[in-house]
Formats: sequence, C-alpha cells, structure tokens
Amino acid sequence: MNQYNFDEIIDRTGTDCLKWDDNGSPDIHPMWVADMDFAVAPEIQAAMERRLRHPVYGYTFHGDGLLDAITSWVGRRYHWNIEKEWVEFSPGVVPALSMSVLAFTNPGDRVIIMTPVYRPFYNSVRENGRVIVNHQLSKDENGYYTIDFDRLESQIDKRTKMIMMCNPHNPAGRVWTREELTALADIAKRHDLIVVSDEIHADFIYSGHEHISIASLSEDMANRTVTAYAPSKTFNLAGLCQSYVVIPNPRMRDAYMAIYDGCMDLGSNVFGMTALTAAYNEAEGWLDQLLVYLEANRDYAVDYIRKNIPEIKVCVPEGTYLLWLDCAGLGLKNEELNQFFLEKAKVRMNMGYRFGEQADTFMRLNIGCPRALLDEGLSRIERAVKAR
Ligand SMILES: Cc1ncc(COP(=O)(O)O)c(C=O)c1O
Repeated sequence: MNQYNFDEIIDRTGTDCLKWDDNGSPDIHPMWVADMDFAVAPEIQAAMERRLRHPVYGYTFHGDGLLDAITSWVGRRYHWNIEKEWVEFSPGVVPALSMSVLAFTNPGDRVIIMTPVYRPFYNSVRENGRVIVNHQLSKDENGYYTIDFDRLESQIDKRTKMIMMCNPHNPAGRVWTREELTALADIAKRHDLIVVSDEIHADFIYSGHEHISIASLSEDMANRTVTAYAPSKTFNLAGLCQSYVVIPNPRMRDAYMAIYDGCMDLGSNVFGMTALTAAYNEAEGWLDQLLVYLEANRDYAVDYIRKNIPEIKVCVPEGTYLLWLDCAGLGLKNEELNQFFLEKAKVRMNMGYRFGEQADTFMRLNIGCPRALLDEGLSRIERAVKAR
C-alpha cells in the first residue's frame, strides 16, 4: 500500500490560491476557508495527466464510468444504494442549494436552517426571495450542539416548505446520529417538507461516528430529499468545480433539472469529471490515511488549546476539519475579535458571527494542513492571548 506524506509543506502562493494569495498580507498565517493544504492524491494527479495528454478538451457528458464511480462510492462510504438515474450535477454544492430552493419552493415560502451554519445557507434562501426560519441549535457547556426538535417543530407553519440541513454540520462539527436524523425525518413527513441535505463534509468522520445520509433512512425520506455531495473537500479538488446531487424522486429531479437548464445548461468540466472518477475509484486508500492524520490533528489541536490557551473553549468536532472556538474568555466579539487575531496573532480564521448572530464570540479554525502549519498557527494564537 502507498504511504502518503501529509507532513509535506507545499507552497501554494502565486497560484491565485484563495487561502494563501487572497489572505490580506503574506505575514498572516491562513487558517480560514475550508480548503486543505495537502497535495492531491498521486492517483488523481496521474489520471489528470493522462487526460491532459489527450489534446482535445471538448464537450463531455456524464458517462457510465463517472456514474458508476459515484453510485459505488455512495454505497461503499455512506451505505446508501442509489441508482445512476438519481444523480444530477452541479458546479458546486452552493449552487445546488440555490437551485433546490428555486426548484422546490415559491417566493415568500419559509425555509428552515439550523444555525450557526455556513453562510451561503442564509444567502441561498434570502437572495432567492424566500424567508429564513432560523432554528438556533442548542449548545451545552461543552460546546456540544443539538437540535431541539419540539422547538423546531413549533417554528413550522403553512408557508414552511423546506429544511436545509448540513451533515456533518459546519461549523459545529456534529455528525448527526441516526436518532437525530430519524426525529428530523418524522418532522419532515408530518409537515410534508422537502429536505435539502448538504453532505459535502460526509467523508470527514472521526472514530466512533458514522455518516448517515438522511435520504437513506426510508423510501419516504428518499422521495422528499435532495442530497448534495462532492469530492471537492475530501480530495482537495474545489478548484475543479465538480459536485453532484442525488434526487431519487423523478418529479423532483425534473424540477431540479428545469432550474439547472434555465440557470446554466452546462456541460461538464472534463478535468472535474476525470478527477472525481479517479478519486472515487483509486484514491480511497489516500483518504483513509488522511483521516488518521486529520484525527491526530484534531486531537493535537484540542489538547494544545485546552492546555495552553484555556481562555478559548473548543468544540470537539465529530467530523469535518474545522474547529469551532468559543473565544468569549477574551472579552472581544465580532470584528474586534477578528482584528485581534489578525493583528496580534497574525492568524486568519473565519469569523463566528458570519455563521450566525449568536456566534459573535466564536472563530472557526481550519486544521486541514500539515502538523507544522497547525502548530505554527496555534503557537501564534497562544502567544497573542498570553501577551494581552
Ligand atoms: C457546508 C458546506 N457546503 C458547501 C461548501 C462549498 O461547496 P462548493 O464549493 O461545492 O460550492 C462548503 C465549503 O466550505 C461547506 O462547508
């Protein structure tokens, strides 16, 4: 079996890299956007090179090789047996969220989101003329987030048409359990809601947890759910703009495709397709080794913060490579908190309040990087907090 070197530090500057080149200043250590700093699996790179050597990059379609790779991956990794016909595409998961809002709701309809949550959830509802129903997740003293199902159900009225969920949850790091998903599915059925499930982080699950796609719970759920997946986070392919949705219900699929054709009527990205197929068919071993590395990064960072920076409370993620940090102990919020980390620590993270107003003392730290880079970021934060 190949051994991969996740400690290798790759200079990403000068590649128009969002994380490193659009980072404000070269002396700021970037630990923000959910993008990892590891080299792509060599198996994927080799497949891309083979395709690159063919001298024509013309129109493509979604052939059986690609669809087989997807159905097999979803079956193997998420234990959900899907049909090729259920798979449709999108250049990204975020556009798939917006297309789903447009396809399955009407202007003025209400869409439930569970906050704090990834910013584009708000935009895909609000910017498309729908109304956000904000279900604030409950949080205990250890930073463990849960859904209050009774409260959530009480927020539903006749104009509520959709639940948009994130599993694993960004930024809380929760991997929703079968019990939680079943309770959500029961609510969706009782109120005849469409569910849109963003599962872009589904491949990042730590020991003791299991990814379950809510659509896989029952035929009823499959028939009311759009599930969005992508190889982009998992295999570091976000720049190739390749993601897909699984929609078992043929009427919903038609509605999704009507919006897709109206919005973009795109073919596919030849390199995105090549990379996805190689990733799913050949790079599973790379992912399994990466997960061991990331889990060690998580444990390292959690221990480091608990021991050395007790002013910051860390929510231990069950999945994702994102650490959600409660910085209330620093007595700063919002932009002031961000400025403290930028100016004093020289570390860029994502600002908590962008995920939800209630998260104004939080920051999100990306641990998807070689250990040495993680260590650099943590020690900068420690020094700045101690020097306050
Ligand atoms: C929950 C979630 N959904 C979607 C995305 C982005 O998806 P895409 O780049 O495929 O639009 C991210 C990226 O951070 C994310 O965390």
